[in-house]
Amino acid sequence: MTDTLVSDDAIDFDPFAAEFHEDPHPLYRRLRDEAPVYHNPRYGFYALSRYADVAPAMKDFDAYSSARGITLEQVLAPEPPDQRIPMIIMMDPPEHTRMRKLVNKVFTPRAISELEPMITATVREFAERLDPEQFDLVEDFSTLFPIEVITTMLGVPREDRQQLRAWLAAPLERAPGQMELSEEGKAAVIESTMFYAKLIAERRANPQDDMISRLIEVEVDREDGSTTRLTDREILGFAALLAGAGAETVAKVLGIATVIFADHPDQWRAMHADRSLIPGAFEELLRYDGPVQYDVRYSRRDITLHDRTIPAQSPVLMLLASATRDPRSFADADRFDITRPFTGNNLGLGYGIHRCLGAALARLEGRIALNAMLDLMPEYELDRAGLRRAHVTSVGGWTNVPVRVHR
Ligand code: HEM
Repeated sequence: MTDTLVSDDAIDFDPFAAEFHEDPHPLYRRLRDEAPVYHNPRYGFYALSRYADVAPAMKDFDAYSSARGITLEQVLAPEPPDQRIPMIIMMDPPEHTRMRKLVNKVFTPRAISELEPMITATVREFAERLDPEQFDLVEDFSTLFPIEVITTMLGVPREDRQQLRAWLAAPLERAPGQMELSEEGKAAVIESTMFYAKLIAERRANPQDDMISRLIEVEVDREDGSTTRLTDREILGFAALLAGAGAETVAKVLGIATVIFADHPDQWRAMHADRSLIPGAFEELLRYDGPVQYDVRYSRRDITLHDRTIPAQSPVLMLLASATRDPRSFADADRFDITRPFTGNNLGLGYGIHRCLGAALARLEGRIALNAMLDLMPEYELDRAGLRRAHVTSVGGWTNVPVRVHR
């Protein structure tokens, strides 16, 4: 059944290797051209890399399940279901449909647009603390405000938000070459779980105008036909997922933006002169180098593609960041162009039933933050010696992007 153009051994795709984090694009090109259904014998995963394969696969939840987890390490060694914190990102229909419905309303573009004053004030608060001459765009700015936005929505007290951010970031970090969670990562998961358990108990006793209090009130239809309120673990699952998915990604996309625009200063200046270019620039950033490199699925049955069969029960990497650079689907795919017409189907925010719940929020935060950055640093240069890559499972980007502002 092997009809790949090269043998699997000819391409060494190690998603945990430092070289992959450094620049995955040459590897993605080889995968698309030479092994569109790649098999990695060391970890036992398959990988799809062409847009025309990834996009339909992301919609096909019958063939590709999310229920074992969304990182490779989770899919390879899934936790027993009774020990897992339930999260919609790790559910298939019908459970996913029932649970996502509960939060959809909070994240519609209209509901999100009402948050604009709060987000603008939060971004401004962090922007005003910066040294106007030089700062670290990620460490001093883009890492700090998205967690404030999502935890404000959830109802986390102000004094606990940055501590929660540190607890959420720790389990994502990986030393180069390491697949499993570190001891610090495991300890941080316990800390954040205990923190939310206490907060949920407080809101049960004393409801406020926030998402955790609303999740305590909602009712959900269960598989057995009954209708019940959410359990503490289910509420914890929503809180942990929203804060986890909503903070790290926005922080990363802005760091990536700063590095890309340093190499395309003409486009930064064009956007400075015409702020209506910002929304298109945000879409192009997600296409050109979005923070989510891949989503992981688990094949439910044998799947044949390009004359190759992915056996049932295999982990499959959906290489979103490769698909959006596929020249078969995007003209001049390796060119960064903020005026590129947006087709409305950006895999950078996922696709299908798990498409990003926070897409409207991400776009609004991105627009407000890019606007603030254009004011803060109309002309800038990177302190390249200080750039640090993030070594995070499935998410690309930088932990440090120091900039010097020119006036
Ligand atoms: C630029 C920023 C963001 C990017 C690049 C991004 C990317 C993604 C991607 C690729 C997925 C699909 C995952 C999958 O199919 O397995 C996803 C799902 C999700 N995102 Fe985002 N996201 C961003 C911001 C946010 C924000 C601000 C929130 C806050 C609410 C959020 C919450 C979620 C949730 C809850 C899901 C799971 C949805 C489901 O399983 O039904 N994301 N995101």
